[in-house]
Amino acid sequence: MLQIVPAFGRIGEENAFSVLARAGALAAQGRDIVNLGIGQPDMPTPPHIVEAGIRALRDGHHGYTPAVGIPGLREAVARDILRRHRVEVSPDSVLVVPGGKVTMFMAILMFGEPGAEILYPDPGFPIYRSMIEFTGATPVPVPIREGNGFAFSAAETLALITPRTRLLILNSPANPTGGVTPKAEIDALVAGLAAHPDVAVLSDEIYGTMTYDGEAHTSLLAYPEIRDRLIYLDGASKTYAMTGWRLGWSVWPQPLYDAARKLAVNSHSCVNAATQYAGIAALDGPQDCVAEMMAAFDRRRAIVVSGLNALPGVSCRTPKGAFYAFPNVSGTGWRAKALASALLEEAGVATIGGPDFGVHGEGYIRLSYANSMDNIRRALARMRGFLEERKPG
Ligand SMILES: Cc1ncc(COP(=O)(O)O)c(C=O)c1O
Repeated sequence: MLQIVPAFGRIGEENAFSVLARAGALAAQGRDIVNLGIGQPDMPTPPHIVEAGIRALRDGHHGYTPAVGIPGLREAVARDILRRHRVEVSPDSVLVVPGGKVTMFMAILMFGEPGAEILYPDPGFPIYRSMIEFTGATPVPVPIREGNGFAFSAAETLALITPRTRLLILNSPANPTGGVTPKAEIDALVAGLAAHPDVAVLSDEIYGTMTYDGEAHTSLLAYPEIRDRLIYLDGASKTYAMTGWRLGWSVWPQPLYDAARKLAVNSHSCVNAATQYAGIAALDGPQDCVAEMMAAFDRRRAIVVSGLNALPGVSCRTPKGAFYAFPNVSGTGWRAKALASALLEEAGVATIGGPDFGVHGEGYIRLSYANSMDNIRRALARMRGFLEERKPG
């Protein structure tokens, strides 16, 4: 009888992938499914980035690269951070990784152990909690509340810190809520962290280029007072529609960098070489592709929000970032997960139940509007038909 270590009894999943599989299975049976479940841009990667990847392969970049990433990409990341956040980082503190997820995996492995507490947003990206539990650390959810615009509350977050807290995970703009934490709140949070010098911070800024209505994204990198304990997570997946290329990067404080490098050497060795060259083209190339994508998301956002607010029992705040709407469905009488499941099975619309992002997600569902206007309209019409006719089961 094979026996794997008990930690695997605690590791979780990302339900978006199960919903994707179920939606695919229904479609294979001939059902017409509109998938607003999965969180990835529906646009192709911009052509100049694709070309750079192809050119890299033609130019013979077929071998291993340094585990930390090729120097040209690490320098491009430093330039991107200077351009967007007006902060200087050394390319020597940049680690290139196969996707944004890998940075959180490494950071949580570094700080998680039995007896340690790790704070993470709830509702939030499900992998935070899954990895915290895997390490045996205690997950401490930081409630992300609709009444607070789905922003972090500095006071509420700081009040959860104990002598056992080792890591605080922040995410703005946020999945699944689309919330953006305002600068004043981040100022207050960082000021409060001065009293807790042993708490590391992981700032997941994978949606950092994705805000609307002129809303500013405040990077945690802009606070020199916590730079010696800040892990910055970013990547190409969302900004450049590159989810399948697997390209992320992080900035580490000096004392942690070597540990992260060793994790890379012990796991993936390096990110595939051609993808890294494509990453340089993404960061150093024209950025109008990002603006165009955001303009498209913005138009869809307007349709999604007004469409959702017109549904019986549903109310939806206008998300300020990312490409998710997180409507409050408690007025429908349905439990959120039952509603998401019935919408998929009976109405052919894939969404994700809020509780898949944590206990504070009850009463909400997540819709990704990274989909065509046509599909969004069809989904809303189906949801209306469903909610008008079907009583909660
Ligand atoms: C908040 C957040 N962080 C990180 C990631 C992971 O991104 P990647 O696909 O680059 O691993 C996602 C993906 O959905 C996300 O929503």
